[in-house]
Amino acid sequence: MCCSILSCRHVPDSEGEDVSSLGSSSAEYFGGMAQECVRCGACTVEIDGVSARACLTLAVQIEGAQVRTVEGLAPEPGKLSVLQEAFRRHHALQCGFCTPGILMSLDNFLRGHPQPDEAAVREHLAGHLCRCTGYVPIVNAALDAAAKLRQTDHA
Ligand code: FES
Ligand code: FES
Repeated sequence: MCCSILSCRHVPDSEGEDVSSLGSSSAEYFGGMAQECVRCGACTVEIDGVSARACLTLAVQIEGAQVRTVEGLAPEPGKLSVLQEAFRRHHALQCGFCTPGILMSLDNFLRGHPQPDEAAVREHLAGHLCRCTGYVPIVNAALDAAAKLRQTDHA
């Protein structure tokens, strides 16, 4: 799902300015990102095609912007994206806490880097914390998805 503006819960500061973060606002609409820690990467979304952390983005900053969340990855209801399918095949998630942000980040990364090697994927994941998987299945899923996307592009 993509939407133009995500802003539903307004948090005023002492001078009445709206300082709601995109993370806190959108968490009321979507289940995919409900944290606000400013360092784990789990809240990563795409704002006008650029990866961004929702918890570091004020809701007022994205007025009129196109915001894509993990709910927007599936090409159609009931169908997973190539990257999501690869995550499932490689068991690249356990508790799932980090997964929405990693999926959004890798989806964006793979569009700009269709032939990444393992080092590039690992470097890209450096801003994401996963406490469960040890990253190996995540990296394997990303490389597998990249290979499948290249086949699709050349089909
Ligand atoms: S919730 Fe935004 S970086 Fe952790
Ligand atoms: S799957 Fe649990 S934190 Fe990554």
